[in-house]
Amino acid sequence: MPGSKDRLRWFNERRFGMFIHWGLYSIPAKGEWHRYHEAVPPEEYRALAGKFNPRFFRPGEWARLAKDAGMRYMVFTAKHHDGFCLFDSKYTDFTSVKTAAKRDFVREYADACREEGLGVGVYFSVKDWDFPAYFRGPEADSGGFEEIVRHFHNQTLELMSNYGKIDILFYDCSDDANFRGHWGNKSASEVWRSKELNEQVRKLQPGILINNRSGEPEDYGTPENQIPHTVEDMDRMYEACVTMNHSWGYREGDHNWKSTQEIISQLTTCASRGCNYLLNVGPDREGRIPQESADRLYQVGLWLKANGEAVYGTDRVIPNWWNYSGHGSVLTKKNHVYLCLTDWPKEGVEILTTIKNNILSARLLANGEKLTVRRDGRRVFIGGLPLTKPGPWTVVIDLEVEGTPEASYYY
Ligand code: GLC
Repeated sequence: MPGSKDRLRWFNERRFGMFIHWGLYSIPAKGEWHRYHEAVPPEEYRALAGKFNPRFFRPGEWARLAKDAGMRYMVFTAKHHDGFCLFDSKYTDFTSVKTAAKRDFVREYADACREEGLGVGVYFSVKDWDFPAYFRGPEADSGGFEEIVRHFHNQTLELMSNYGKIDILFYDCSDDANFRGHWGNKSASEVWRSKELNEQVRKLQPGILINNRSGEPEDYGTPENQIPHTVEDMDRMYEACVTMNHSWGYREGDHNWKSTQEIISQLTTCASRGCNYLLNVGPDREGRIPQESADRLYQVGLWLKANGEAVYGTDRVIPNWWNYSGHGSVLTKKNHVYLCLTDWPKEGVEILTTIKNNILSARLLANGEKLTVRRDGRRVFIGGLPLTKPGPWTVVIDLEVEGTPEASYYY
């Protein structure tokens, strides 16, 4: 089941998603590790739930923004490490339904995704700091830990049973132990009994994609804040998850925003590795996505409207297959090669050296402007480019080639 071709094709076609980190930690506005990093006493942290009543939780707006950005799915933190649930759970009172907000945010979110035709992804933290036994660990407190494992199973199955079709299950932190001691001689997957749980999940949600953070490899890998320049396993799917500033959860003082160009470059690099790109937003305590995030997302959306053909559903290329002087990514799909130029050739000619195929035509993808192609041995000269770079971001050249793109090497 894991890796089944249709589901991976679905993922590949979606390519770009919105990660949303939101919960009680949006109130202190110091990021989602606040409870742990500042050793907040449990009663004090739990009291935040009494103040969590966002005036502007409008997931329809989030979904429309994601769509305008060219994103095709979302992944929402149903429960982060702090243990607070944004969904209705019969296994705890520490939920948004049983405290001030009295709302099931996961339900509203899932409905909004479906309304906009976006894939529905749920993030769920395996570890849970709301259990004192978690910090003692499975060796020191096997009974207490067993209770957490049961809770993990129960809540995952609740999410998989009560919210209609879920496309993606993003587990987190099964092997990231914040307690003293070890897992003993067991693997994280054995401690959490992840195999057994994932089998049950697949029975409830036959089409679901599951990430690798339950301790089992399942369907896809999740490099974090890292854009893969090589891909270890050519048959495996990957999704890079990335922050837009330096934080996942809302952090008031973090102004380290990536530029729109940086985001586009990360997206095209991911696409050239056949990898998805999950870009994070951290809404504030009222449910508002920071303006800085929205500005960048709208700009990426404009770029994708003109250049999306080169990004969605592209094939995997072998890293370092291509050489050309434009310092951008090269993407391939069917009989097309897309060159993503970030540096602009001042004399209107770009030179490419690694393409073996006969090139049938060349054009600027964004406006269809025709370019010239001349081959001289291994070198291909693409000419007729405007002398001034047409636009502030990556420019894509679309080469139509004969057959499936192939590389030519120096020898
Ligand atoms: C980490 C962090 C977490 C964040 C996640 C996103 O494992 O613990 O706060 O949610 O990565 O990938």
